[in-house]
Amino acid sequence: MKAVTWQGKRDVRVEDVPDPEIEEPTDAIIKVTSTNICGSDLHLYEVLGAFMTAGDVLGHEAMGIVEEVGSEVGTLKPGDRVVIPFQMSCGHCYMCDERLYSQCETTQVTEFGSGAALFGYSKLYGQVPGGQAEYLRVPQAQFTHIKVPDGPPDERFVYLSDVLPTAWQAVEYAAVPKGGTVAVLGLGPIGDMSCRIAMHHGARVIGVDLVPDRLDRARKIHQRKALYLTLFGEHDGPRALVS
Ligand SMILES: NC(=O)c1ccc[n+]([C@@H]2O[C@H](COP(=O)([O-])OP(=O)(O)OC[C@H]3O[C@@H](n4cnc5c(N)ncnc54)[C@H](O)[C@@H]3O)[C@@H](O)[C@H]2O)c1
Ligand SMILES: [Zn+2]
Ligand SMILES: [Zn+2]
Repeated sequence: MKAVTWQGKRDVRVEDVPDPEIEEPTDAIIKVTSTNICGSDLHLYEVLGAFMTAGDVLGHEAMGIVEEVGSEVGTLKPGDRVVIPFQMSCGHCYMCDERLYSQCETTQVTEFGSGAALFGYSKLYGQVPGGQAEYLRVPQAQFTHIKVPDGPPDERFVYLSDVLPTAWQAVEYAAVPKGGTVAVLGLGPIGDMSCRIAMHHGARVIGVDLVPDRLDRARKIHQRKALYLTLFGEHDGPRALVS
């Protein structure tokens, strides 16, 4: 299959790599239909390069159709349409019972003192081949999936893999009081979605970025939702948009 591989600092290439296979009864293989590039992938491109190995397959925001399953994946079956969360979790250990899935005791990478293993995210997180590829092996597939219905396009669901829950949790942690204001620094996928979620909760949002395209995208949401979003950018000067 073709896959996006890390080859060295600032050197990422599409290469032919072996197709993944079922290795454990709890594995599934999915045919990837959509996959995102994350701001977190930029860390691998540069600062976390020390923990990468040439040939590592990148990507942790994939969705697709189940192609093949092991014997212990519960109700998951070939043909199911699924989003794969960025972390692998078993669904039955102490941490999963506490709903702290990113600390799953079955997959956590104790050698590096990390939490649950992540797809395509260096030795620090288990060196598991990622989802920027034609096929993805999903360990702990009985729990590591979100089934979604057929019909709507992938864009309706693919952000469940990381962007939506991460941004939702960021807004939760900010604990904005009722009627309060929250500043969101950086309007990439995570900041943009955090703005939307904070506005959805009724907060007044101040979004900040330096890149005109990113400010424009956030501005469009403001116009569509007719909610209070103030944007500041270095290049086009501070501006306020208030409905
Ligand atoms: N589950 C998680 O913990 C999780 C998941 C996804 C992303 N992340 C992290 O969240 C961060 C954002 O992710 P993303 O995908 O949106 O990244 P991104 O790189 O697409 O977006 C970052 C934005 O910040 C802006 N920015 C940079 N420096 C700035 C400055 N000084 N002032 C104002 N704006 C500035 C950039 O212009 C860019 O638009 C990354 O650090 C990423 O690693 C964490
Ligand atoms: Zn991500
Ligand atoms: Zn677990």
